[in-house]
Amino acid sequence: MFAPSSDLILRYGNMQLLRLEGIEKHFGKIQALRGVDLDLDYGEALGIVGDNGAGKSTLLKIMSGAVVPDHGRIFLDGNDVHFKTPREARARGIEMVYQDLSLCETLTVAQNVFLGREPVKRIIGVRLLDKRELYEKTQHVLEELKIKIPSIRAQVKNLSGGQRQAVAIGRAVTFKPKILILDEPTAALAVREVQKVLDLINSLKSHNIATILISHRLQDVMSVTDRVVVMYEGKKVAERKTSALKLEELINLISQSESVSRRDGSE
Ligand SMILES: Nc1ncnc2c1ncn2[C@@H]1O[C@H](COP(=O)(O)OP(=O)(O)OP(=O)(O)O)[C@@H](O)[C@H]1O
Ligand SMILES: [Mg+2]
Repeated sequence: MFAPSSDLILRYGNMQLLRLEGIEKHFGKIQALRGVDLDLDYGEALGIVGDNGAGKSTLLKIMSGAVVPDHGRIFLDGNDVHFKTPREARARGIEMVYQDLSLCETLTVAQNVFLGREPVKRIIGVRLLDKRELYEKTQHVLEELKIKIPSIRAQVKNLSGGQRQAVAIGRAVTFKPKILILDEPTAALAVREVQKVLDLINSLKSHNIATILISHRLQDVMSVTDRVVVMYEGKKVAERKTSALKLEELINLISQSESVSRRDGSE
């Protein structure tokens, strides 16, 4: 797993892992983001909440290279970066698990975890899938993350929502990200599955992975994040440390964000 060396952190003092400055994005006439500044610290878990259409997914897609901003700057480890594709963001250690998970239903758990990077062996010069290595590597990843799936040979279409989410997160972790972005990871889950996914998100900290979580489930955000950002109509309207925040206050911040937004445009 990637671990930022402690001397790197000491050398750069309070440098952030990721910093966004003045991010703006239009889709035709719709202004999805209106000048958003955002910081993410090393190993931090950040929650992003706000109404439908507030710009949460767009902001995170900009971090992951899936959307290119019209204006604004992105700094990663203090370096100015300009991602044009998810591949470029991935190469710099940023992974995103999208709302639709992007898994292949008819492939196995193991094939999904290493999709496009399956180990191969050569038999009389012919390249064949090395199933044994694929299963061993997958088993290792899932054990590291304490993900329990009945069989890594099962097709993804036969898994529960929570198990699918775990496979998608497991796959993302194999790219050894510094930052893992999760868009609504608990939205479609049965109650008993939610806690397992939250435990998994929590465990990413011990792998030195900073996480950004978008969720409408405020109790989930409260239970796994260090800091919460509230968005409204393309702006960041509030930002709080989770330890100093009560659920009722967060609900108020979201429901009152319209007036907060009008009053000062920021926190
Ligand atoms: N590809 C796109 N083309 C056109 N408009 C878009 C596109 N993506 C987002 N938008 C618009 O930008 C605004 C912000 O959308 P975004 O998906 O970022 O919001 P969100 O906060 O993630 O909302 P939700 O909670 O519903 O997922 C919305 O008005 C949305 O309709
Ligand atoms: Mg969204």
